[in-house]
This record gives sequence, structure tokens and C-alpha cells, in this order.
Amino acid sequence: MNIQKDNIRAVVFDAYGTLFDPSSISETLRQFLPGHADAVLRCWRQKQLEYTWLRTLMERYRDFYSLTEEALQFALQQEQQSLPPEAIRELMGAYYELQAFPDAVHALRELSAHYTLAILSNANPSLLERASMHTGLEEWLDAIISADRVKCYKPRPEVYALATAKLGVRADEMLFASSNTWDIAGAASAGLQTAWIRRHPSAMEQLGFQPDMVLDNLQALAQFLAPQ
Ligand code: LAC
Repeated sequence: MNIQKDNIRAVVFDAYGTLFDPSSISETLRQFLPGHADAVLRCWRQKQLEYTWLRTLMERYRDFYSLTEEALQFALQQEQQSLPPEAIRELMGAYYELQAFPDAVHALRELSAHYTLAILSNANPSLLERASMHTGLEEWLDAIISADRVKCYKPRPEVYALATAKLGVRADEMLFASSNTWDIAGAASAGLQTAWIRRHPSAMEQLGFQPDMVLDNLQALAQFLAPQ
């Protein structure tokens, strides 16, 4: 564990898979596509990530909500499935009303007493603001920071730099928490301290950057960061 705890002034969180639980979207899709939903979901999530990386590399930015819908269309075609427009609208609408992981609610409440807290996400500001209000997390957040401001996606360093500018702290004074291994590598590469929230069994990326700490959930992070 390489965390420099005394340096930390802000704790910054990735959104999907870290604060917000996307599994409710899975449940909706299983109702629409019984027997095919899991294959479509796997393809959809992977293609959503790929489109953020490819559009950044191509310098052809499109907002997260739009490219997520395009990734869904790919996944349906790839799995030879189709959905009527109203089902697509319902699935995409679920992004505004995701549940927060239970440990996220408790952790942000505890951490807010001692640290500046923010979301740093690829998602559109409107998606993040509505989801934060829907889950009540907005009560504990000092800022919601979207990659949309720089028209490119994590792990571009410009995105992590948004947090240092918005919060007025140095990169090494921020602890970035994410369940996404590539996001941890990107944040570490940008000079942030990092906590990998390892919600599912996974190896860590071999990108030359390792997390400063690995935890099973955000409650453990709140316990570690609590004043002694
Ligand atoms: C985000 C995705 C990567 O919130 O979880 O940026």
C-alpha cells in the first residue's frame, strides 16, 4: 500500500460500477430479451468502453449517452436481436435512475465530514446530476465533473486534470476511487493517488501503473481514510 494519506484533501469517484450499480439495466434487458440478455449486456458494456476510447483516438467526440445508445445498437445487431424504440428508450432512461451501491452511500456520508468529494466520470453532466439526485449522493458531493467539458474521455490526462482544476488541489492530493482497472491505470498515470475498488475478481491491467491500494468496497476506503 503506497497511499500518502496525510496528503489527501479530496476523494474523487468514478461513476458506473463504482458509485452507481448498472445491474438494474441488466434486469430490464432480461425482461425484453429472455435468454439473450447476458450476451447483449456483455457486448454492450464492452462496446460502450471501446467507443469512448475509439472516439477519443479518432478525435470524433460524441457524448456518453449517445455513444452508449450506439453501442447498444451494435450489441443487438452482433447478437442478432432487435428491440422496438420504446424498449431502447426505457433501457437508456434507466441510466438516469441507477441505484447507488449501498457502501457508496455510507462511505460518502462519512468521508464528506473530512474531505472534498467529487464524481469524475465520462458520462454527460445531466446523467450524473440526475443519478446523484435520484440516489441522494448529491447531498455529500462538492462537485460533479464530466469529461464532456474537454470533449474526450478517460484515460486521457485532460479528464483527470479537470478534477485538480475544479477542486483546487494537486493531483497527489486527490485519491481517485474506481472499480475499472483501466481507469485506475489512467488516473495513476496522471499523478493521482488511486484506490481500486475490486467489486469483481479481476487481474490488474499491465500498463505500467498499479493502484496504491486495493479494497473490496467503499466502506473499507472510508474506514481507512477516517481520522485516527
Ligand atoms: C465513468 C465510467 C467509466 O463513470 O464508469 O466514467
